[in-house]
Amino acid sequence: MNLPKPKKINAEKYIAGLSLFKQKVAKIKLSANESALGPSPKAIKEFNRVAKNIKRYPDSDGVFLRNVLARKFKLDPKRIILGSGSDQIFELICKAFLDKNDEVIVPEYSFIIYRIYSKIYGAKIKYAKEKNYKISVENILDKVTKRTKIVFLANPNNPTGTIISKGALLNLRKKLRGNILLVVDDAYFEYVKSKNYSSGMKLFSNYKNVIITRTFSKIYGLAGLRVGWGYGPKKLIYALNQVKPPFNINRAALFAAAASINDVKWLNKEIKHVNRWSKIFFKNFKNLSIETNFSYGNFLLLNFNKIKKNSKNIFLKLAKKGVLVRKMDVYKIKNSLRVTIGNNKENKKFIKILKQVI
Ligand SMILES: Cc1ncc(COP(=O)(O)O)c(C=O)c1O
Repeated sequence: MNLPKPKKINAEKYIAGLSLFKQKVAKIKLSANESALGPSPKAIKEFNRVAKNIKRYPDSDGVFLRNVLARKFKLDPKRIILGSGSDQIFELICKAFLDKNDEVIVPEYSFIIYRIYSKIYGAKIKYAKEKNYKISVENILDKVTKRTKIVFLANPNNPTGTIISKGALLNLRKKLRGNILLVVDDAYFEYVKSKNYSSGMKLFSNYKNVIITRTFSKIYGLAGLRVGWGYGPKKLIYALNQVKPPFNINRAALFAAAASINDVKWLNKEIKHVNRWSKIFFKNFKNLSIETNFSYGNFLLLNFNKIKKNSKNIFLKLAKKGVLVRKMDVYKIKNSLRVTIGNNKENKKFIKILKQVI
């Protein structure tokens, strides 16, 4: 009998690495770059209020949230598109722009979702080598061919935590062919304190060939609700809207996200907390001779070569003692782990256990 045959998809599956957490072996989860302090109490209040009215469909255009975003960041609401996480914006971009035989360039250690969707929509991936875990404009430009359609990058970059300077980013756009779409992922921009840095939004909000993405999953602490957004020129956002599922953001997410934006006090608390702990983590790792980068995001990348330890063993030992971090195998970063900054109690416990394990 002839059975239905799905298309062959040549992309790796996104693995969240949660099995030890689900089995409740590890209770402290520092593996997904989620916010340390959680959502603003205002967002939770709004979530509970909306819960009373979930028989209604959400607004398929998310007009209310788009207007709140436009007001906050001084943008044109018509050029904002909402996604079920910024993850979905990346998918919409690939769906709307990629054909078979197109090529997509990503920095070698960039967020894995870019390559997954690009492959699902038929493109070939070109990996641009990084220099000391930093994105290299030169190496991206080296990978350009006449088939190049999109360049994806995150600034700060996940999983390395490094940034690309505003000069370098502007230079990249200048040197890329005009019909190559540059996607700048601003997922962690709020945490950055550096004079050399400008967010993708600040640099490119009026460019004709750049889409910028942002998320409510990180600093806003709403990863579980799945809200992200993209900003770009009218024509490109129109193309994304054509392939967007109609009710892609649920009601609770729309309203909780809107409520969280203006709680500046709460956001500043999270930024201060992360910046403080980032320095403490950095210092502790250095004292333990664990190699690490100064991180501009809410996570740090650790390498165990110098102390001649095996990252897999350390991962398991940490998990058995209750702390889940992220393995870096899918990123092909050897003998390394990534840890997210948690709350005070979690961070103290993590450092204590790491010292014991090492
Ligand atoms: C660079 C980067 N972009 C986007 C995301 C995903 O965000 P969202 O939850 O909005 O899909 C992540 C999550 O880890 C990330 O590291």
